Formats: sequence, structure tokens, C-alpha cells
Amino acid sequence: MKTVAVARIDQIPDEGALVVNVGEEEVALFKCSGELHAVDNVCPHRGGPLAEGEFNDGIVSCPWHAWTFDVRSGLCTINPAARVRKFKVEVQGERVLLHLDGEGVGEEANPDDQGLD
Ligand code: FES
Repeated sequence: MKTVAVARIDQIPDEGALVVNVGEEEVALFKCSGELHAVDNVCPHRGGPLAEGEFNDGIVSCPWHAWTFDVRSGLCTINPAARVRKFKVEVQGERVLLHLDGEGVGEEANPDDQGLD
């Protein structure tokens, strides 16, 4: 498993989202009731940018066709067959770390290369 520092905690707005690039992929970090959740930023329906959607109480609404996803589970709330990929996320001090399962995203990164200290 790889761990990548992707942001500082203060870069993610309360009850909002921040998109980070990890390798070729975009990951959306959502802050909900003080907890962080990381999901693929690409909607599984037709590829809409989830982080640009409306976000309330842990539910994000895709800006393209309004499918809704619970970022805490990754499950689509209107189509039980759909889900968005989740990533393990952790806060260490001020840094936000993503734990990657090796199935795709990113190269191991040095936090210094991400502009983090
Ligand atoms: S692309 Fe997200 S709902 Fe259609």
C-alpha cells in the first residue's frame, strides 16, 4: 500500500470539497462534520466532476445529471447498483494522507514535492 500526502487540512473547506490529483486521477476530498472522506472525483454515471456538485450532510449531487452519492460509503443513493470508489484518508498533524491500494492511482510521493511541510 502506498501513502501519499495530498493536501493540508486547512485547504479543505468545512462541509465542502477539494480536488487533488494523484497520478492520472482526480480524488475529491470532502469534509463532513469534521471528518474527511476521499472518493474518485469522476461520477460513475457519465464522468461528471463530483466535487463541483452540491454537498449537504455527506451527500454530493453530481452537477451533470444529479445522481447523489453518500461520500461516507461511496454508495449512490438513487441507484443501488452504482457506487463511487473510496480511498482511505488520514490526517497527520496538518497533512492529509491518502492510502492507496496499489490498484491504480499514483506514484509514491514525497510530501515536499506536494508543497507540504
Ligand atoms: S455524470 Fe454524474 S449523474 Fe450523470
